Amino acid sequence: MIQKQAIPTVDFTSAAFKADPYPYYANLRTYAPVHPVEKFFRGQRAWLVSRYEDAVEVLKADEIFVKNPKNAMTPEQYKKAPKMPFKSLSSNLLSVDVPDHTRLKALVHKAFSPRTVEQMRLQTDSLTMQLLDQMDAKHKRGESIDLIADYALPLPLTIIGRMLGVPDADKDKFHRWTQNFVAIGGSGSFGAILRMPGIVRFANYLRQIVRERTRNPKDDLISSLVAAREQDDQLTEDEVVAMVFLLLSAGHETTVNLIGSGLLALLQHRDQWDRLHANPEMIKSAVEELLRFVTPAEMATERYAATTTTIAGVEIPRGDLVFVLIASANRDEHRFDNPEVVDIGRQNNKHISFGQGIHYCVGAPLSRLEGQIAIPALIERFPNLTLSVPEDKLRWRSNVVLRGLEALPVKL
Ligand code: HEM
Repeated sequence: MIQKQAIPTVDFTSAAFKADPYPYYANLRTYAPVHPVEKFFRGQRAWLVSRYEDAVEVLKADEIFVKNPKNAMTPEQYKKAPKMPFKSLSSNLLSVDVPDHTRLKALVHKAFSPRTVEQMRLQTDSLTMQLLDQMDAKHKRGESIDLIADYALPLPLTIIGRMLGVPDADKDKFHRWTQNFVAIGGSGSFGAILRMPGIVRFANYLRQIVRERTRNPKDDLISSLVAAREQDDQLTEDEVVAMVFLLLSAGHETTVNLIGSGLLALLQHRDQWDRLHANPEMIKSAVEELLRFVTPAEMATERYAATTTTIAGVEIPRGDLVFVLIASANRDEHRFDNPEVVDIGRQNNKHISFGQGIHYCVGAPLSRLEGQIAIPALIERFPNLTLSVPEDKLRWRSNVVLRGLEALPVKL
C-alpha cells in the first residue's frame, strides 16, 4: 500500500543527501514509486520514477515522455512555462524530440563511430601511465594525492578535449565552465544560469573554434561535425556549438564519477579490489558492476508528459515534468539479486546507467574504454592504496543529476 507520509522532504542538491541517497530511494520504491515533488526543477513540480520496470517504460516511451516542453504542453501551459536561456548551448540532443533528434543523433554517430573510439585506446593507455607517474612523483615529494583531481578527472577531460579538437591548454577553462553549467542546469534555479559567470564567453569560445574549423578543417570531431551531412542536411552553426558543448560536458562530467566513485566503491569493498587485482581479466564485468553500483548519472534528464498518463497506478498530468531515478532503478531488488552488494563478477547485470531508448548515451563505448583502462591500471600500480581521510569526511558535489565526489584523498 502506498503511504505518502512515509516520504520525507529532502534537499536533493545537498551534499548530505548525495552522501547516501539510497535509503530514500528504497523508501520511494516501496511506498511511492511515482512521487510528486513541488518546485523540483526550474520552480516546477516533477514526478520521480524510482522502480526499474517503470524507469525503463518511461525512458522508452519517447512519444509520451518528450524532451521539448512545446511538444508536451497546451499552448496556455507553454506560455506560462519558464524558457531555457542560452538556446545556442541548451538546444541539443537531450532537449529535442523526433524528427530533429533522429537527424542530430545520426550526425553524431557518424562523427563518433566505434572506430574513432577504439583509436583512442593507445592515447588513453599512455595518458593513464603519465598520470600514474605524476602521482608517484607527487607522493615521493611528500605531496598529498587526490584521486579525483590527479586521476579520475584529467583522463576523460583530456581525451574528450582531444577528440573534439579543443586545445589541451584550454581544458581547465572548459572544465570550470561545464562544471558550473552542469551544476546549475539540474538545480532547479532557473535564473542562476543567466547570472552564471563566463557563460557568454564560453558560448563565444566554442563558436570561435567551430568557425575556425569551418575555415580550416582538421582531423578532429568538431571538423567532422561541421562537415557531417545526413540526407543533405547539414548542422546549423548553433547546432554544432550545442553538440560540442554537450559532448564536452557529458564527455567528462560523468566518466570522472565512474572512475572516482568506482574506485571508492572498490576501496570500501576491499575484497573486490583484491579480487580485481588478482583477476584483471574480470575488468569488463567489474566496470558494468561499478556503473550499476555508483550510477554516475544519478537521474535521467527532464522529460515532459505529452498526454495524461498512468505509471504504476499514478496519474501524471499532461505537461508535467518527469525524472527517472536511474540510481534507484539500478538498486531495485525486483530486478537485481542483492542489489546492495558489490560483485565485480555479477552476471545478468542489465543496469540502465547509460539510459534507454532513443536518448541512450552516445559516449557509452568511450567511457567503458576509459574505465576499463584507468581502474585496473591504478590497482596494478598501487595495490596497497588506501583512503587518507575517514569515509565520513568525504564530500559529495551538490548536483541533482550527477553524483560524484569533490575529492578523494588517498595514500599510495
Ligand atoms: C560513465 C559515463 C557516462 C554516463 C553514466 C552517461 C550517462 C548518460 C545517460 C543516462 C544518458 C541519457 C540521459 C537521458 O535519457 O535523459 C546519456 C546521454 C548522453 N550522453 Fe552520456 N554518459 C556517460 C558518458 C558520456 C560520454 C563520455 C559522452 C561523450 C563523449 C556522453 C555523451 C552523451 C550524449 C551526447 C547524450 C545524449 C544522447 C541523446 O540524447 O540521444 N556521455 N548519458
